[in-house]
Parts: sequence; structure tokens; C-alpha cells
Amino acid sequence: MSEAAIRLWPELPKARISPNIYGHFAEHLGRCVYEGIWVGPKSRIPNEQGFRLDVLAALKQLRAPVVRWPGGCFADAYHWRDGVGPQAKRPQRTNVWWAQAEPNTFGTDEFVQLCQAVGCAPYVCVNVGSGSPREAMAWLEYCNFGGDSALSRMRDAQPYGVKYWGVGNEAWGCGGRFTATDYAKEYVRFASYLRAQDRSIKLVACGASPGDYRNPAFVSWNHDFCDAMPHADLIDHLSIHRYFHRGKGAAFSDGEYHALFADLITLDRDIRQADQLLGYFYPDTFVGLAIDEWGVWHPSAVVDNGLEQENTLRDAVFAGAALNLFNRWAHRVTMANLAQTINVLQCLAVTDKARMHLTPTYYVFDMMRRHMGARALTDEVECPEFEAHPIGLKQRQPVPALSVSASLAGKRIRLTVANQTVDQDVATRIDVRGAGMASVAGHVLNAGDPRDVNTFEEPKRVFPKRLKFEGESQELVHTFPAHSFTALSITLN
Ligand code: AHR
Repeated sequence: MSEAAIRLWPELPKARISPNIYGHFAEHLGRCVYEGIWVGPKSRIPNEQGFRLDVLAALKQLRAPVVRWPGGCFADAYHWRDGVGPQAKRPQRTNVWWAQAEPNTFGTDEFVQLCQAVGCAPYVCVNVGSGSPREAMAWLEYCNFGGDSALSRMRDAQPYGVKYWGVGNEAWGCGGRFTATDYAKEYVRFASYLRAQDRSIKLVACGASPGDYRNPAFVSWNHDFCDAMPHADLIDHLSIHRYFHRGKGAAFSDGEYHALFADLITLDRDIRQADQLLGYFYPDTFVGLAIDEWGVWHPSAVVDNGLEQENTLRDAVFAGAALNLFNRWAHRVTMANLAQTINVLQCLAVTDKARMHLTPTYYVFDMMRRHMGARALTDEVECPEFEAHPIGLKQRQPVPALSVSASLAGKRIRLTVANQTVDQDVATRIDVRGAGMASVAGHVLNAGDPRDVNTFEEPKRVFPKRLKFEGESQELVHTFPAHSFTALSITLN
């Protein structure tokens, strides 16, 4: 058994944790949107206006704050007019990136209805790669214009008030293979006209995916983009994408288990670099960082299987550690969108016709949701370390056994802890400076093996268990089991 200490300072709250850090991403890819979310109103699968009831309930329970759509790579080949108007008249197209047919029965109206049913904000990514500023402006007018115009009449509903608009996706790759400076020019054109069309929207620019160190385009992308895009009034968020993999799906070694967590060191480094660049290039305006695609992407998830993969307990603990990291960067990270909501990559739920089960990652989002909107808390963690080799760094690095974040709302502290070791239980002294603890409650997500997954036959193999704590105290000693994720709620005196 290892030992650790966590000290929390409730009198030193920091930035508010943007609820959008707990956001999601749904692309027209494999069975994410079609089957996963949308089955159509005539389906035998229980649905409300074509949306699966089980999926709606799961997203509502999470208080999902924002969903990004329609891609991903799909976005830069998507022409929004194909997906509006009577469904029977919408054209069938090909989805070039994901090698499937696109029936267009799920379009802008359905996406906004989904968001309204869930209670989350819609985040639309416009087509830069094969589209035009005119097409993007028209889409925005269709969605948000409250006056009378041919486009607002086409909408036949109250304005949608879509607040977040991404200007292309992965512009260095499937979004048009631009150089950073060429994309900056395109960005200024698109953003100028989108801003003119609706001044209330928030614009998101494509940053790099700096985790892929083999691609030289990434090394200086964020710097070169910001350098060539001096108009601080045209940018609200810079996006970065990060996918992680170690080992084969559920078949990973203990070394690969540890290496996955070590990779968060480079994500932390990438956030720090972006933080410094944004502060340097836009000193008088706050530009947020949106990690608007992230998650574990196993090598088994390929185009042929619609990017479907096993979702293990390890992946869930990793999601908790990544979300802890975003909480700790609450002063810069304004949004993060797990890829992808249903069936695809590190999804929240898996469907098979009328059946659905939740993944271990779903439970981590549920256990963390009370951080949303709370103030990040100053903490100090002393814990054992292990050594592993993060992607893109030359040497092995020390990795803390515990990933921690804490927040404060009223008299309640939320403390979430990922035990990043495969085999070390960590007995931890938790001390709230200057305040006693009236009561403590919590849940732990754990299982015998970090390779464990939920299945239709055993949907709750990995499921959070309630923790019991006794009475009031000044200090708490709690053991965080190996490969686990724990959420504690501490009520102060
Ligand atoms: O999420 C799958 C794909 O990964 C997205 O379409 C793209 O943006 C990224 O490369």
C-alpha cells in the first residue's frame, strides 16, 4: 500500500469551471448519429420524434452541456441545404470520409431538436474545405436570424440561437490541407462574414493536434496561425484535438496502461503552450482553448467498423484524469468534446437495435458533472510516482500515481481522483485547510481488471459503487484503489 496526501484550500477558489468542458461530439460517422441517436419517428425502437429515448435519457442525466456537430472530417464535405426541408425530399449523398451513404434525414433541424430535448447548447462546425463564406453565412442566417428573410422563412420555427460556430475542422488535414497561414486567410474571410451576420456568436478556429508528433505541420501551427490572424475580435476559442492509444483495445500490457497516463503530460504541455501563445498574440482579449475532439482511439477502431472499439475501465479512468487536467486549466480551457457520443470511439453508450448499455466512461462523466460551473480549487498533492515514456518526449518521465482536481460550490467541495497506477492502492490523507468536514459522501468506479468492459450480457460489470463515511472530522484518510476513479463530495461545517 502506498501513501499520499491531498490538501485543499477552500478559501482560495480559482477560475469557474466552464460546464462546456463536459461536452460531446457527434459526427455523421458509422453508427453515431444514425442508429446511435437518430432512428427516425417510424422506428420500432422507442423514440421521441425519431430520437432514441434511452440515449436522450442518458444525455439528460449527464446534464450534457454542449454537442459539436456534424463533424469532424464530415463537416468539410457537408452542404447544410441537403439536410433541411421535408425529409422525404432530401438528397441521398455519399459520406466521402467515412465510406457510407448519407441519407440526410438528420440535418440542422434535427440536430437543434436533439439539443433542445437534451437541454444542451448546439455547436456547429461549418464547411471551409469544400464550402464558401456565403454558404456558411446562409447557414447561420437559417439558424439564428430573427427577422424576415427567405432563409428564416425556410426554418419555419423560432430562431435556434446557435452560439458556437467552428470555422472548419482539422484544416491542416481532412479540412482542406491548408498551411497555417493559408488557413488564417480563409479564417479571416469566414469569420468576418459570420460575425457580420450575427454578432452574438462565438467563433472557434482550428488549432493543431500537437499529439501527432510525426506530422511536421503541427509543430508550429498554432503559432503561425495566430501570427497570421491578428484580429482578436474574430476569435473566441482556439481548438486542439488529441487522441490517445496504447496497446490493442482491451489487450494492453501493464506498461501500456501506464504509458497512456504518461501521455497526459504532453497534453498538459500542449495546453500550456497554447495558453502562452494566446496570451502573447491576443493580450487584450480572452481567447479560450477548446479541446473539441479528444479521447482514446484504439487501433481496432477503423473506417471498416465505423470506428467502433471496446471501452475499458482503463479508458474511463483515463477520461477522469483528462477531465481533472481540464478542470485544473479552468482559466484557459473553455470547452472539451469527447469523441464520440454514441457507438464511435470512446463513446458514452453502445447500442444494438433496441438495446443500449452505458460504457465505463459514461459513469466518469456522471461522477464529475457536479464540477460544472463550480470554482476550481487550489490543491496540493503529495503522492508516489511511477515512470513511463510519454509520446513525443525523449525520456521516461515521473507520473503521479494520483490525478486530482477539486472544485467548490457553496459549502460543498467536489474532489475527483483517478488512481493512474495499474496495481497500487494509495492510502491518502485528505485535509481541508481552515475548515472541518461536516459530512463526506462519494462513489468509486473500479473492477478487478482495468481491461474490464461493459457488455449487453453484463452491462454493469463496471459500475460506480457508493462509499460510506462516518461522521464529522478535520481530516479524512481514504484508500484510492488501483486503476479506479473516485468522486467525493465534502460538505464543510
Ligand atoms: O473523430 C474521428 C475523426 O478524428 C474526426 O472526423 C476528425 O476530426 C479526427 O481526425
